[in-house]
Amino acid sequence: MADYSVYDCSIIELDKHHSERKGNLSVVENGITLPFDVKRVYYVYDVPGGESRGSHAHKTLSQLIVAASGSFSVTLDDGKVRRTFFLNRPYQGLLVHPGLWRDLEDFSSGAVCMVLASEVYQEEDYIREYDDFLKFRGIEKNSNE
Ligand code: TYD
Repeated sequence: MADYSVYDCSIIELDKHHSERKGNLSVVENGITLPFDVKRVYYVYDVPGGESRGSHAHKTLSQLIVAASGSFSVTLDDGKVRRTFFLNRPYQGLLVHPGLWRDLEDFSSGAVCMVLASEVYQEEDYIREYDDFLKFRGIEKNSNE
């Protein structure tokens, strides 16, 4: 697996089909939109104000994170650099490569965080302790202080 940095991740614009009378429609299609095929979709909603989600990394999983409604921020961390993205458009998605720590915060009321994932749910793919994440990245604790 490539050693992805936070600079490899970016917000991608999804297809947006606009109809003056009937509103908008956006599409994610396997083989076209993303560098992976989608095996699972899940969404996080009803997050109380001030709560955060995420706080983990994945060993092999890639994701597209979309604010299907409302807004929230996603901070990515490669062990050396942190980068925060603000998602507030249903026609944009943050492409998150494997091996990056992520924190989701600042959920607006009514926010829906939709995640399109490259793999089915596997708890073994999660790194839930930050120290284990640094080890996974081959970074000595406090080496960046
Ligand atoms: P968790 O990964 O802790 O959520 P978040 O990172 O958004 O804070 O997942 C919450 C619970 O949901 C946990 O018990 C695992 C379960 N879960 C599944 O069963 N399937 C899934 O696809 C996901 C993402 C989570």
